[in-house]
Amino acid sequence: MSVSEEHTIRMENIFYSVDGRKVLENVSFVLEKGVNRTILGTSGCGKTTILKLLLGLLVPDSGRIIVAGRILEGLPESEQLRIRKQIAIVFQGGALFDSMTVGENVGYRMFQDGELSEREIERVVLEKLSFVGLEDTIDFYPSQLSGGMKKRVAISRALASNADYIFFDEPTTGLDPIGVYNICHLILRLQAEGKTTLMVTHDMKTAFSVSERFSFIHKTHLIFEGTREEMLSSTLPGILQFLSPTDESLFAR
Ligand SMILES: Nc1ncnc2c1ncn2[C@@H]1O[C@H](COP(=O)(O)OP(=O)(O)O)[C@@H](O)[C@H]1O
Ligand SMILES: [Mg+2]
Repeated sequence: MSVSEEHTIRMENIFYSVDGRKVLENVSFVLEKGVNRTILGTSGCGKTTILKLLLGLLVPDSGRIIVAGRILEGLPESEQLRIRKQIAIVFQGGALFDSMTVGENVGYRMFQDGELSEREIERVVLEKLSFVGLEDTIDFYPSQLSGGMKKRVAISRALASNADYIFFDEPTTGLDPIGVYNICHLILRLQAEGKTTLMVTHDMKTAFSVSERFSFIHKTHLIFEGTREEMLSSTLPGILQFLSPTDESLFAR
């Protein structure tokens, strides 16, 4: 296995359908360590599905997912779990456990692993919470937090996992401009600390703020891969429609 393979996550010729309806067709791309990528596309185009496939939470109809040179399919569950530990995900909405405090949420994986003492876990939890500026909320429950705060707690939980890759599912959707700024700023700080981020979103502004490479999904296919400049100068109809959706009838009154 070459060094470069060890530092990539690949999706190769992936086909995926739900109830006979095609969600993804022949989708391939590479996430290289150190190259932050965003996958763009309209709602329902399969973005969350891609993240779940990469994590092994969904199984493709055909095609391969290769994490650090290892093909996920066919590996024993324990080995898949080990490989998956290189990836942390911040789900849309945060996906915090409502019955646990903020501190318990952030420390969850460390409690599960059972390798650190409670004292050590608390130290790491506080450190990761202060990274997102929320150390004062350690004893709060998720219901006591705003949407933006929940996302920041979810980021701090992802950080606590020590994963090299952090996936973000629509991290800024539903936030006000200050919330969007805070999350983008945090993502940039994670990257500066050496994490590689893969984000899926329909929000172009967020995408351009935190990524250098872009993939674009349109009608079940990945139709574009390139830089911001290449995307902005693309003449692909799917991208043109996404960049400047015009429905003249809407403004005709
Ligand atoms: N559990 C499910 N049952 C039925 N359809 C699903 C399920 N999950 C996803 N889909 C369908 O797959 C498509 C892609 O979904 P998703 O990956 O969530 O899109 P996105 O994240 O881009 O909005 C959607 O059309 C959605 O309706
Ligand atoms: Mg989604």
